[in-house]
Order: sequence, then structure tokens, then C-alpha cells
Amino acid sequence: MNLVLLGPPGAGKGTQATRLSETFGLQHLSSGDLLRSERAKGSPLGQRVAGYMDAGQLVPDDIIIEAILSQFQEAGRHRGFLLDGFPRTVTQGERLDPVLEGAGARVNAVLALRVPDKEIVDRITGRRICPTCGRVYHEKNQRPVRTGLCDNDQTPLIQRKDDTVDVVKQRLAAYHTQTEPLEEYYRGQGKLFEVDGTRDVETVFSELSGIVGERANRAVS
Ligand code: AP5
Ligand code: MG
Repeated sequence: MNLVLLGPPGAGKGTQATRLSETFGLQHLSSGDLLRSERAKGSPLGQRVAGYMDAGQLVPDDIIIEAILSQFQEAGRHRGFLLDGFPRTVTQGERLDPVLEGAGARVNAVLALRVPDKEIVDRITGRRICPTCGRVYHEKNQRPVRTGLCDNDQTPLIQRKDDTVDVVKQRLAAYHTQTEPLEEYYRGQGKLFEVDGTRDVETVFSELSGIVGERANRAVS
């Protein structure tokens, strides 16, 4: 089973992806985490994408498609993918389909988290992440057990470089102009499930799990 998570910056894609991938045995592939890890290594890819990310712009399609598709080989160990942050343009969606078809697979469901722009800034500026495992926290909504340390591996938490008020406005603009058309693309295929992401993390997770569980049952029946 292959799933795509969509939603604006700060909608909760990473937060929910961690839980869903553990619950359903899926490989969590986050395009943002991949690019941040390349930047931390100082790789050629990391250097190419840094300017786009810091400005809140999408990385050009060709760069991200090549980077993400090279991660797909590992999927054999899992029951499928949970794609978080990719695809996020119609071109990326169209390029993904034949790759999955070539492996006898397809996108089974697209989960779109809905959070209005006015709630996004507080979520983004209060976010802290673990640079080691990518786990996501919030200084008010989702605190770690020990202040400033990741619950999973005790690494000191950091703030993302693109989590500023000015940059998030650019990221929201990119979402509205470049990613919303992708939602229409999947709606046209009857795969889009819209979920109210403004509720607490557990309530959102429960609704997403219900949708995924139902799709998983259909996939085997
Ligand atoms: P990426 O890392 O994907 O960033 P994004 O899409 O902007 O999304 P975020 O990671 O900011 O938010 P999220 O939805 O994961 O929310 P989270 O769970 O962390 O991409 C970064 C950049 O990389 C892009 O700008 C672009 O440059 C480049 N890039 C990546 N993929 C690309 C692609 N395919 N094509 C081109 N360029 C690409 O939650 C946010 C906060 O809210 C946290 O603090 C969390 O604790 C809190 N929170 C979560 N859920 C709730 C809740 N229910 N209630 C209250 N608080 C909550
Ligand atoms: Mg994320």
C-alpha cells in the first residue's frame, strides 16, 4: 500500500507520518528530511538545494524527482511507502505514477491535511526538530519529556532554518500555487481524502488511521 500525505507547511505531515508508518509498517520517505540531511552532509545535492529551501521556494522538479526516486530501492523491506512532501507539483505526481506502475504498484490513497494559513505561523515558529531522527516537537503543543531533548534519542532539539515568519509566507504561497493543483489531480482520480488537521494530534491520527485501515482492507480483499 502506497500513501501520499499532502498539506501546507506545518499541517502536521511529519508528525502524522511518524505514527502512521510505525502503525502500518510503511517506509516513511520525507523529501524535506532527505534534503536537510544532504545539506548537513554538505553534499553536491545539499549545496544545490540550499538557496531554494532558505527562500521558501520549491526545489526544481528534476532535482527532487531524481533524489527521491533513488530512495525507492529500500522499499522491499516494507509494506509500501508513506510519501511526505513528495510529490508536491503535478509534474512530480505524473512522474511518480509510471515508476510505481513499473513495480506493479500505484498510489492507493492521498491524505490531505487541512489547516488554515492563520494557524500555520504559530505552528512553524514554535516547532523544534531532532536533527538525528527527524522527530517533530512544538514548544507549547508537543513538548518533549525532557526540555530541549529528543524523546527518541536524547539529541538536543534545533529550530529549522526555514521556520521564520517571512520564509513561511513564501512556503505557503508555493503550496497554494504549486501544490493545490496536485490535490485536484488526485481528486480527479478519486484518491483524495481530506482531513481536518486543526484538531489535536491524536484525533487527527485516529481519523487518518481509519482511512488507511479501510484502504488496506480493500487492497487485500
Ligand atoms: P518540508 O520539510 O517538506 O516542509 P513543509 O512541506 O513546508 O512542511 P513542514 O515539514 O514544515 O510541516 P509538516 O506538515 O511536516 O508539519 P509538522 O508535522 O512538522 O520541505 C522543506 C523545503 O524542502 C521546501 O520548502 C522545499 O524547498 C524543499 N522541498 C521538499 N520537498 C520538495 C518537493 N517535493 N519539491 C520541491 N521542493 C521540495 O508540524 C508542524 C508543527 O506543528 C510542529 O511543531 C508540530 O509539533 C505541530 N503540530 C503538528 N500537528 C499538530 C496538531 N494536530 N495540533 C497542534 N500542533 C501540531
Ligand atoms: Mg515535515
